[in-house]
Order: sequence, then C-alpha cells, then structure tokens
Amino acid sequence: MPQNHPILDAADRTHYTGAAGDLMTTQYMNIEDFDLQTLPQSFYDHPYATYAALRSVSPVHRLPDGSFFLTRYADLDRVYRDTATFSSDKKIEFKPKFGDSPLYEHHTTSLVFNDPPLHTRVRKIIAGSLTPRAIADMEPGLIAVVDGLLDRIESKGSADLITEFAAVIPVEIIGNLLGVPHEERGPLRAWSLAILSALEPAPTPAMLQAGNQAVRAFIVYLEKLVADRRGNPGDPANDVLTRLLGQEQDGTQLTETELLQNCIFILNAGHETTTNLIGNGLQLLIEWPDQRRALLKDPDLAKSAVEEFLRFESSNQLGNRRTTMDTRLGGLDLPAGTRLNLCIGAANRDPEQFEDPDRLDLSRKPNRHLAFGTGPHICAGVNLARLEGKVAISRFINRFPHYRPAGIAVRGARARFRGFLAIPIAVC
Ligand code: HEM
Repeated sequence: MPQNHPILDAADRTHYTGAAGDLMTTQYMNIEDFDLQTLPQSFYDHPYATYAALRSVSPVHRLPDGSFFLTRYADLDRVYRDTATFSSDKKIEFKPKFGDSPLYEHHTTSLVFNDPPLHTRVRKIIAGSLTPRAIADMEPGLIAVVDGLLDRIESKGSADLITEFAAVIPVEIIGNLLGVPHEERGPLRAWSLAILSALEPAPTPAMLQAGNQAVRAFIVYLEKLVADRRGNPGDPANDVLTRLLGQEQDGTQLTETELLQNCIFILNAGHETTTNLIGNGLQLLIEWPDQRRALLKDPDLAKSAVEEFLRFESSNQLGNRRTTMDTRLGGLDLPAGTRLNLCIGAANRDPEQFEDPDRLDLSRKPNRHLAFGTGPHICAGVNLARLEGKVAISRFINRFPHYRPAGIAVRGARARFRGFLAIPIAVC
C-alpha cells in the first residue's frame, strides 16, 4: 500500500494488501449483489477488487436487469471486433429510457451508437476530418492554453486540478478544433456533462431533463455556427468543421441532423474523457511518487506514461453492445438480443493480458489497453487525446515537480466515466 496515501482514510488502509504501491483492495462487493443500477459509494472509490472477483468467478456475469457484465480482456477484444454479432445500435435500449426526446435523437444519430451503413459513412467523414495535419496544427495552441493555465496556478500557489486545469484544456482544444469562438465556449462543458450523464446506468428524471435541455440548446447554437461557417469557410486543411461541410457537399452526404448531432458528439466525446485522463494521471502521480520521479528523470517516458494512465484508470470504464444472433461467450449461450456491458476498466486490469496489472508502470511495454475500445468503432480522437494528455501532464509536472495534495480529492460517483470532481493541490 502506498505510504501516506492522500485519499485513503485509516479504515481503507487496513484493506490494502500486496507489494508497496499496490492499490488492490481485498474488499469487494459480494458479486451476487453486484448491480449497475445500485452501486455503493465504496464501489466508485475502489471498483477494481470487485472487477477482479467478477473476472475470476463470473467473467460473463448476469445482472438483475437481464444484461451481462463482461470483465475479461479476451472477451471484450472479441466483442469489439465482431460487429456482425455484437451491435452498437442503441435504438431498442434508448427508446424506453429517453422516449421521443432530444436525447433520443442525439444518441441514436451519433456514429458511436450505430452500425453500418450509417456508422461507416459518418465514421469515414469524421475520421477523414481529424487528419494528422489538423491534429499536429493544434499543438502550438494547446501548449499556449496549458502554459497560460500553469502561469495562473503558479501565481496563486494552489489550485483545483480539475476545474482550473484538466477540465479547461479539452473545452479549449475541441473549441479550437471546430472553430467555436472563445467568447461562446462558456456553456459547452455543462451541456456536454448533462448529455453524457444521461448515459449513466440509472439516470434520474432531473438528469434526463437537464440532458434534453442541453441537446436543444446545443442544436440551436450549432445551427448558427454551421450557418456562419458555410458563409465564411475556414481552411479545410486544419478546420474540421469546414472539412465536414465540404465533404457534405462532395456527395458523401451527412444530412443536416447527422451533421449537427455528430458535431455535438465530437464536442462531448473529447471533453470529459480527456479531462479525466489528465486529472487521473496527475492524481496517480501523487499516489505513486516513485513513478513521478521516474517521469521527471526521463521525460521521454511521457508517451508511454499516458498509455499507462489510460490503462490503469480508464476514463471511460463501460461500453455496451447487443447480440444480433445467438452466440456463446465465456461458456454461456447468449440468445440474440442480449445486452452486454463491456467493462473496459476490468479488462485493462486482466492478469491474462497485463503482467502485475494493479501496478502503475509508466514504462509498461507492450500496453495494448482497451481504453479507446478497438475494432471499427475505436476512438476517432485517439491522436488528439494522446497529444492533450502528453502535453498537459508533462508540462504540469515539469513546472511543478513537487505539487502535493491540499485537501481531499473528490471522485465523481459515476460508473461509466471515471474521474474526479475536485483535486485540491498546492504547488509551492
Ligand atoms: C482520453 C480520451 C478519450 C477516451 C478514453 C476515449 C474513449 C473512447 C472509446 C472507448 C470509444 C469507443 C466506443 C465504443 O466502441 O463503444 C470512443 C469513440 C469515439 N471517440 Fe473517443 N475517447 C477519448 C477522446 C476523444 C476525443 C478527444 C475525440 C474527438 C476529437 C473523440 C472522438 C471519438 C469518436 C468520434 C468516437 C466514435 C468512433 C466510432 O464509433 O467509430 N474521443 N472513444
């Protein structure tokens, strides 16, 4: 167990076992009680022992709602790749959950929740817009944003790592990507959080209402942004929205609804996930001081460090699929129409795939984690996410090598998106 662990109280510490630095707790929920709809706070604090128990005892585990929870790397890898047997289309699930609503239209039009042919067509256009050139051109702007935030933190001597650093960067970068004027970026994060929160396993009526309002407001905003860009196009080499509009005219065709809903999706996909990568990474460097020292000593570790942060505390912990035909998984026969919860967080700690998986090892190689999924739906923003993670985390620790906790780090109690709401730190 880590010495002087800043976020664990004395009771938690007694449950820690293993080699120094091992964050594996021996306590887990009784797996018979495991239900995504009613998770206790202790699960959000330390889900990995529960995942480990499920993986070894019941790797394809039936939940009370009839869906199955998958925890083995090999099973997730197969499901992600076999899009004929395992569908991403969510119309059946989302109709009872969202009704006829803006949230339903948004999520069922996003490429991530569709199969071919819509997925193939939209993916080609979006992936074709996030070109290496467009991403590389973003680096100077990214460095300027990060350094500006670091200057502000330095002048104050303390900060909340989430609201004053990790959460600001993706809003600015995705805002730059789609050319959203600076003065119009204010509401983006709140809209994004409201829309994604509705995807939690058990959203409350208030969460659904906030999500629907956010989709409506986002659409009104984007209609204006798109109309302005049509009238005044940017350079298609590095302006993603102009590229999306250009390809729309090429005959590859996105309908107006597909264009607007997938712009919302890009803005959302890159927000919280990347905030959590940066926040989780910097928190892990507090918890694992030897790894912080290693990174400070060898800055070339930054690239593999980002991969290890993504594996160890995957920002996006859950994915979903539905079987299109009868199939067999983990020794169980699953009929067509079975809903699957793919636990990325568990697969990324599977000892069959990763040696000593509960150890944070910034130089880990190979590290074929599933934090971005895999197969035809693999994250289309991987290069941007990696660049943001690397620039933000390495510039932060180089400027503040001795940053330390200045209060309790508060985790968001959500099963799908794993990250912190607040990480108070002092830098001098
Ligand atoms: C650390 C940051 C990120 C993580 C962990 C992450 C994770 C993921 C995962 C797991 C998927 C696959 C979902 C599935 O197959 O069910 C995905 C898809 C996607 N992501 Fe990301 N993402 C990140 C950042 C970004 C960024 C910055 C962008 C945009 C610039 C982005 C755009 C997308 C898109 C468009 C898809 C849908 C791809 C498809 O369905 O073909 N992501 N992401």
